[in-house]
Amino acid sequence: RSTNVTIPVVVHVVYNNAAQNVSDAQIQSQIDVLNRDYRRLSTEIPGGHAVFTGMASDTHFQFALARRDPNCNPTTGIIRKSTTTASFTHTNSSVATVRNPVKFNSSGGDDAWPSDRYLNIWVCNLSGTLLGYASFPADMATRPLEDGVVMDFTCFGSTGTVAAPYNLGRTATHEIGHWLNLRHIWGDDTGDPDECSADDAVTDTPVQAIENYGCPSFPHVSCSNGPNGDMFMNFMDYTDDACMYLFTNGQSERMDATFWTTRASLAS
Ligand code: ARG
Ligand code: ZN
Ligand code: CA
Repeated sequence: RSTNVTIPVVVHVVYNNAAQNVSDAQIQSQIDVLNRDYRRLSTEIPGGHAVFTGMASDTHFQFALARRDPNCNPTTGIIRKSTTTASFTHTNSSVATVRNPVKFNSSGGDDAWPSDRYLNIWVCNLSGTLLGYASFPADMATRPLEDGVVMDFTCFGSTGTVAAPYNLGRTATHEIGHWLNLRHIWGDDTGDPDECSADDAVTDTPVQAIENYGCPSFPHVSCSNGPNGDMFMNFMDYTDDACMYLFTNGQSERMDATFWTTRASLAS
């Protein structure tokens, strides 16, 4: 796809203290990061490893805070809600409010806006257990009220309450990748070094053994993927924010294919 699609975003700031009530500027900094990362404008690309940056893709997805609420009234696209819940979790419970308390008024969170019209992002205290988490497009059929992305306030945006090494907004880039159906680049097998069979269902990302952390030096070879090795600068790895800066064409195509089947109503 060569035309751009802009996805309307609503940010639910669910705060238990003043620090968690992140500023409008911090929220806008996250939107700006998404627009750089999804449009292949990441500042690291010109200086990156040539072999991989040559594969960096413009996904043609753009993001903007919603300008109309579900009733068509003007909005900033930002909802602020104080909560008595000190920190939120995410569980496998069969009860929605236990599984995803931040997503419901009745469990101390804030109800989603219709997920066929908005990307819902909740910003809250996940108390260091998780940087963020996302629902997948396949979940829309059964759990539309839980569709979207949840972000810890210490890694949302690129200013204010963010803390290194997750201070450049790449956690939301990664989570929205999941929300658009991308899997982790290593295929989610966890045994190193001999689990090279799992893959991310994208053909132009190299098979790699397990996730990478920090900032590996190039090349980091695993699963006989030399000479270039793991694509550890991919947004769907686990490297530090400063060291991840691309999606591939294959990932763009996978996101696009899912978008037009499950999420097409967001484009109109
Ligand atoms: N742990 C999270 C997940 O699997 C996100 C990791 C994001 N990494 C980063 N450098 N911001 O969805
Ligand atoms: Zn992930
Ligand atoms: Ca692959």
